[in-house]
Amino acid sequence: MALKIDDEFHFLVQKASRSSGVVLTSYRDNYLRRRIDLRMKAVGIDNYATYTRLLDKNKNEITEFLNAITINVTEFMRDKTPFTFFRNEILPDLMKRKRKSQSNSVRFWSAACSNGEEPYSIGICSKEVLPADWSVSVYATDIDEDSLNRASMGVYSKEQLKNLDPTLIQKYFEPAGKDFKVRNIHKLLIRFMKHDLTSESPVSKHFDAVFCRNVMIYFNEKQKVKMLTDFYNSLSDGGYLIIGKSETLPDEIRELFTAVSIRDKIFKKCN
Ligand SMILES: C[S@@+](CC[C@H](N)C(=O)[O-])C[C@H]1O[C@@H](n2cnc3c(N)ncnc32)[C@H](O)[C@@H]1O
Repeated sequence: MALKIDDEFHFLVQKASRSSGVVLTSYRDNYLRRRIDLRMKAVGIDNYATYTRLLDKNKNEITEFLNAITINVTEFMRDKTPFTFFRNEILPDLMKRKRKSQSNSVRFWSAACSNGEEPYSIGICSKEVLPADWSVSVYATDIDEDSLNRASMGVYSKEQLKNLDPTLIQKYFEPAGKDFKVRNIHKLLIRFMKHDLTSESPVSKHFDAVFCRNVMIYFNEKQKVKMLTDFYNSLSDGGYLIIGKSETLPDEIRELFTAVSIRDKIFKKCN
C-alpha cells in the first residue's frame, strides 16, 4: 500500500515537473509531500492519483500547485546581523579592492528574492556605505511571478518596514497612500527577473556577492551542490556567498568556499 502511494507520489511529481518546467525532484521529498498534501486538502482531494488527474484536466492548477510549493516569507534586513556584516565588513572590503582595480561599480545577485525585501536591503546598505557616484547593480530573481510583480512595484506597509530605521525609510521610500514606495535612487539599479534555481544557469557572471537565503532548506543535497557550484561560477574571484542562518554548505563543495563569518553564514569564493 505504502509502495503504491510512493509510486503515485513520484508519478505526480514527474508530471508536475514536465508541466511546470521546474525540476521538482530537486526539492526534499518530505517538504514536497507536506506542501502537496496541503494543496490537495485545499481542493478536497485525498490521494495523489486523483490530484494528478486534476493537474492534467485543469491547466490553472499547475500555477496553484507552484504557489503551494513556494513559501514567500521574507523581511527587510532579515536576521539583522548578516546585513550588519555586509555593511561593516563586505562593502568596505569590496570598496578597497575595486579602488585598486580602478572600478566604481558593484554587482550583486539576490537569488530567490521573494517580494523584494532582500534586494532592496542590499541596495540600501550599498548606497549607505559606498560613495554616491558608485554604481550598484542588483539582479533579483525568483521563480514566483506574483512575488516578482510585488517586488518590482516596491510598495510596502509600515509593518513591513519595521526593521528599517526611520531615517532610512525617509531616505529610500516615499509615501504612497498609507504605504511607502521605494524611491528612484541615483546609480542603484535593481532588475527583477524570473529565474529557476533548479533548471536554469546563473543569470549573469562576475558578481561581487550572491545572497541566496532561506530557499536551500527546501532543496535536496544534489540540487544544493548544483546550485552552489553555479554560484561559485557566477562569482568574481574573492566574491561572497551569503546563505540563510539555518542553512549549511554540503561537504562536496566545502573546498569551493571558505567561511568568513560562521555565525552569519557568510563565505568567500576560494580561488
Ligand atoms: C522563504 S523565501 C526567501 C526570501 C529571501 N531570500 C529571504 O531570505 O528572506 C523563498 C523564496 O524561494 C523561492 N523559490 C522556491 N523555489 C525556487 C526555485 N526553484 N528557483 C528560484 N526561486 C525559488 C520562492 O518563490 C520564495 O520566494
